[in-house]
Amino acid sequence: MHYFVTGGAGFIGSNLVDRLLADGHAVTAYDNFSTGQREFLAGALRHSAFRLIEGDLLDLPVLTRALAGHDFVFHLAANADVRFGTHHPRKDLEQNTIATFHVLEAMRANGVRRLAFSSTGSIYGEPEVFPTPESCPFPVQTSLYGASKLAGEGLIAAYCTGFDFQGFLFRFVSILGERYTHGHVYDFYNKLLDNPHEIEVLGNGKQRKSYLHVQDCIDAMLLVIQRSQRPVTIANLGTDEYCCVNDSLDWICAHLGVNPRRYYTGGERGWIGDSPFIFLDTSFVGSFGWRPKLSIRAGILRTLEYLQANPWVLRRRHIAA
Ligand SMILES: NC(=O)c1ccc[n+]([C@@H]2O[C@H](COP(=O)([O-])OP(=O)(O)OC[C@H]3O[C@@H](n4cnc5c(N)ncnc54)[C@H](O)[C@@H]3O)[C@@H](O)[C@H]2O)c1
Repeated sequence: MHYFVTGGAGFIGSNLVDRLLADGHAVTAYDNFSTGQREFLAGALRHSAFRLIEGDLLDLPVLTRALAGHDFVFHLAANADVRFGTHHPRKDLEQNTIATFHVLEAMRANGVRRLAFSSTGSIYGEPEVFPTPESCPFPVQTSLYGASKLAGEGLIAAYCTGFDFQGFLFRFVSILGERYTHGHVYDFYNKLLDNPHEIEVLGNGKQRKSYLHVQDCIDAMLLVIQRSQRPVTIANLGTDEYCCVNDSLDWICAHLGVNPRRYYTGGERGWIGDSPFIFLDTSFVGSFGWRPKLSIRAGILRTLEYLQANPWVLRRRHIAA
């Protein structure tokens, strides 16, 4: 198989690239390095079956040429930061919806018809059913990120119907692990490095969240794309547990040996569009025999160990921000 991975230099994308190469496939990563890191591809770049194309998904002619000759697209490139949608409303639309449209058009032009999409549990907004199944109604979007991803899902499903594509829509909870460069573990660790004596916590710290390790996420995606024959497969990816933000901070502080005074910004939500409770029903992906190998706590500690061992990641993302 010849895979095309958009966002292949990112956190999840680069881990996926390494896995596909290790499984004996040829892989092209397409990335504009807006948040991706060349270092994440150091191993892949030594592999003869790997090709890196530095390009932007918004550049349709370049993308169309790059995509020729591939069998399957993992479309992971996006503005993956959920928090700042209201600061730049156009960004989610362009990076997550229009970019997805471009991927679909470039595929159509090249006769490539299978793709997997990294969607998100944020599209459920604030659901009323927990754990939340794929069939749960989600009539109200609460974030521009979620809305732009849901629009991407809609486009993919319509291309499956209209152009005989096969689409896999994966709705992730927050993902953790090696090469993690954004999210709450990153934020807490960064803040504690600056000041181990006190820390600001967004919201009341009681938000309940589910997290999944990146290798468990990749295992699940590869299994589902092999096994599901549906024209459009929708699969939640998460764990069968959740924790509070305060629990996570307890584990992080214990691991770092610090005991900071906590200041809460207050309210049930950390930011506009933050969902106070994310817990997805993963029985569909479980029906293929998949189970996560790492607990949430183990995933958080592995992430922290990665950040401690790779201080350059913090510096780089800090400068980019
Ligand atoms: N990390 C999570 O917790 C999480 C949760 C739910 C969904 N997702 C989704 O998974 C995917 C990967 O997320 P991640 O955490 O690895 O993020 P990331 O920021 O590390 O990776 C995104 C990659 O896409 C690239 N990119 C962005 N815009 C591009 C463009 N216009 N053209 C070419 N490349 C571009 C970036 O340079 C980066 O390498 C995203 O679609 C994200 O929305 C992530």
